[in-house]
Amino acid sequence: MPKVITLPGDGIGPEITAAAAQVLREVAPDVTLEEHALGGGAYDVYGDPFPQRTRDALSEADAVLLGTVGGAQDSPWNKLPRPQRPESGLLALRKALGCYANLRPVRVQPGLEHLSPLKPELARGVDILIVRELLGGIYFDQDRKIEGDAAYNTMRYTTPEVERVARVAFWAAEQRRGRVTSVDKANVLEVSELWRRDVQALRDRSYRGIHLNHEYVDSVAMLIVSNPSRYDVILTENLFGDILSDLAAVIPGSLGVMPSASLGDGAGLFEPIHGSAPDIAGQGVANPAAAILSAAMLLRHGLKRPDAANQVDRAVAFALRSHPTRDLGGQADTGTFTRAVLEALDTSPAVG
Ligand code: NAD
Ligand code: IPM
Ligand code: MN
Repeated sequence: MPKVITLPGDGIGPEITAAAAQVLREVAPDVTLEEHALGGGAYDVYGDPFPQRTRDALSEADAVLLGTVGGAQDSPWNKLPRPQRPESGLLALRKALGCYANLRPVRVQPGLEHLSPLKPELARGVDILIVRELLGGIYFDQDRKIEGDAAYNTMRYTTPEVERVARVAFWAAEQRRGRVTSVDKANVLEVSELWRRDVQALRDRSYRGIHLNHEYVDSVAMLIVSNPSRYDVILTENLFGDILSDLAAVIPGSLGVMPSASLGDGAGLFEPIHGSAPDIAGQGVANPAAAILSAAMLLRHGLKRPDAANQVDRAVAFALRSHPTRDLGGQADTGTFTRAVLEALDTSPAVG
């Protein structure tokens, strides 16, 4: 029996993870769900945002479903030494799982163009996959320091790190429209020069059927919201991918509908791209769509159950139309939206 570790985390994390777990139980009743601690709450209880007992549980997991971690700007967690902060727990989890490729789909489903602040003709049919490198670059390099009135971080990549994530982007593009845009800042940064060279060389060696182009990150920030249909797969490094994916959330209308899958060496990690939303935490109004769609990605990539994944995707699209949440200009709270998803599952059962 497959086992999924759930890590609800902080803020709205427990609310949206409960919704996603309900949907998982419905479409995959044979899967065991086992909850563990991660983030600020884990620090409060165990003195560690990624406690040993959570780390130990991962060895038995087929997949991991994460909510969100972190506190408000004025949270005492932000004054802890950096390794003890909630976000460090999340980064350590990603590292422990070896999840180097973070897939962040940006999709506007037919009939949901009205949820976008973009003109309907711009939002219609958008289907982008951002492939964000997740274990390297400026996030993880140990050459970092703050001392007195000076501080630095280091953005460093090696060819093997670039190639392994680029392979995932090319593989994904092969199942889609065959186009990859690699995003960098090669006009200024040496690390981007290496990135561009290695991505192009890999394409020329092993993926001749893929159309590859290279664009600068500042220009992509403008084009992704003004002409999103020009993109199929976007491949980029860790920090650029973090920023571009929050920006891309404007296209479907809210961070609350943006799921992700992080793949790599072992069990995959599935989590919304948004944070713990301290401004609405505990009110029961968070949009659980990103968490439920992350559960669908878990079914697809983690448990290899594409039919169940498609069933959940369809049910979420239905609920977004019938019961939009507040972040999308609607009235539905977390419970109402989740019930609408569960009801829509019944009317669109998995085939096969
Ligand atoms: P955030 O993503 O939590 O919130 C930004 C805005 O989007 C807020 O107005 C919030 O209410 C709204 N929002 C986000 N998700 C929503 C949802 N599902 N439904 C409705 N509205 C939603 O970003 P932030 O405020 O900058 O960060 C808050 C905390 O979350 C910080 O501690 C940050 O470090 C952490 N964070 C965690 C993750 C993660 O766990 N993966 C990701 C990003 C930020
Ligand atoms: C995300 C988040 C994380 C990141 C933080 C909380 C460490 O912003 O998943 O996008 O920067 O990767
Ligand atoms: Mn982010």
